[in-house]
Amino acid sequence: MTFSHDLKIAPSILAADFADFGREIEAVEAQGADWIHVDVMDGHFVPNLTFGPPLVKAIRKHIKTVMDVHLMIAPVDPYIDAFADAGADVLTAHLEAGPHTHRTLQAIRGAGCKAGLALNPGTPVEAVKPLLDLTDLICIMTVNPGFGGQKFIHSQVEQVRTLRALIGDRPIHIEIDGGVDPTTAPLVRAAGADVLVAGSAVFKGGSAAEPAAYGDNIRAIRAATGDL
Ligand code: DX5
Ligand code: ZN
Repeated sequence: MTFSHDLKIAPSILAADFADFGREIEAVEAQGADWIHVDVMDGHFVPNLTFGPPLVKAIRKHIKTVMDVHLMIAPVDPYIDAFADAGADVLTAHLEAGPHTHRTLQAIRGAGCKAGLALNPGTPVEAVKPLLDLTDLICIMTVNPGFGGQKFIHSQVEQVRTLRALIGDRPIHIEIDGGVDPTTAPLVRAAGADVLVAGSAVFKGGSAAEPAAYGDNIRAIRAATGDL
């Protein structure tokens, strides 16, 4: 993974067919996905449950790009090795998931993954300041985590702008997660984001058997940001 600020679209498989992840991933990559975003939820940190390390390991072999694993779980530390072993390229933990985020980020890098740090909409972005040099990606949530298909929280755009300034010239990705579509993508791209997670806006209207809509949807987001 070489660092760049080029736009990357990361479809979230939360909006794919759960009975057919392998073919869904292959279809969306063939249609132009840059990364694959994998949402892990524990029914405790967030009010929803998805899947754990064995499923993540099973889908790894279908991913040719970057496996971007978003942990919405607490605690995080006992599971880092399992997700690293499952093949996560980026492993993202929430700042709100525990009292020892500094240790968590060190452990993620120690396990051989890029370290991601996610912030809920209620968390002031300035909180990342002491952690910047331990972080490869910062994910600004533009919905409250737990579910796909929610409405974009516009007040987060200002937080993205603040984060961009805090990061300076450090090689840290800014990722946006939640409610990204052709109307909201340009706002966060202009504010400094380079990785846009999109679930419903990418997977709507298509299927693994009929994937052309995935490509149209990805291109629509890119066209809206001016990054075609
Ligand atoms: C929300 C997840 C997101 C979600 C985004 O908790 O972290 O990745 O899948 O879905 P959309 O793009 O539909 O808002
Ligand atoms: Zn996510």
